[in-house]
Amino acid sequence: MIHSGTSPVRGFAQAIVSSKQQRHIRLSGLRCIANEVALNGWRMLWYTVNDFSLWRLIEYPWATRALQLKPGDWVLDIGSGTSTYPHMLAREGVHVVVVELDRQRVFWQQRKRQATARAGDGQLWPLVADATQLPIRDAVFPRISAISSLEHIPQDELVGREIGRVLTPGGIAVLTLPYTTQERTAFFADIKPFRRVAPNTFVQEGKAGSFFRFYTWADIYRVYLEPAQATLTAWCGFGRRVLNGMYHETKRNRYWRRFILKDWLLATVVHPLEERFDPSDPLYVMLALVKRHP
Ligand SMILES: C[S@@+](CC[C@H](N)C(=O)[O-])C[C@H]1O[C@@H](n2cnc3c(N)ncnc32)[C@H](O)[C@@H]1O
Repeated sequence: MIHSGTSPVRGFAQAIVSSKQQRHIRLSGLRCIANEVALNGWRMLWYTVNDFSLWRLIEYPWATRALQLKPGDWVLDIGSGTSTYPHMLAREGVHVVVVELDRQRVFWQQRKRQATARAGDGQLWPLVADATQLPIRDAVFPRISAISSLEHIPQDELVGREIGRVLTPGGIAVLTLPYTTQERTAFFADIKPFRRVAPNTFVQEGKAGSFFRFYTWADIYRVYLEPAQATLTAWCGFGRRVLNGMYHETKRNRYWRRFILKDWLLATVVHPLEERFDPSDPLYVMLALVKRHP
């Protein structure tokens, strides 16, 4: 705003600066790739060392936009694994607490932070903790993200309650979850040995603790929205006939982590077209939840 008494030029400059300060942080797909290269090296373009791939090029930009972040905000990232998403946010000036059950992955996060932190970055605090019992006081986090992590936690109802407990009223949680309208009887058939153990629930044979489940809208409301006393404010699917049916859950999956630039094209060209024109079930949904005020 130009105040009377200030020079119009300086006032205009201040207006630009303050409008920039007010703008929410955006992470485009290309910016995510540039961050991945800066954090993990050039080989990321050929083969990922973590879960960074097509899905993340869809999830990170959407999640960042939905979280409505500004520099200085605090985010709790649940089930971070060896993801560089917390570091990408820190590079935008956001403070991030990483919650991860696997101690080795938390060490990875710590080492990555020590090796790549820059002056002016937000803080990054990796924490070994169980998302079903967060060692965090009530109503302290204004933002929570959980990117492709909650489907791996058997006691997901406890996580839904914990998200509601630690989120501030009016705070935003962004979750990405595997989705289905009908019961799934197979997952990664002929690619990975997943055994169905309950409706929409699978365990990977021979891999301890590899649990995976799909959610219907009824499950999403029961497990996450109602316990968190939250309202769904935005959602978007991804992975329909082309990206999942012809690409991910087929033998082509072996190319999944190769040539990240092809994933950028799929994420920026094919994904929006699928969401616009393909009415089949998406593999995942991305959700923005706002905790209601008491
Ligand atoms: C697919 S990975 C996460 C992907 C990551 N968020 C990303 O953006 O690429 C799922 C992670 O959830 C973690 N996890 C599983 N159960 C958990 C729990 N109860 N509490 C916290 N983390 C958990 C796993 O150790 C694993 O690292």
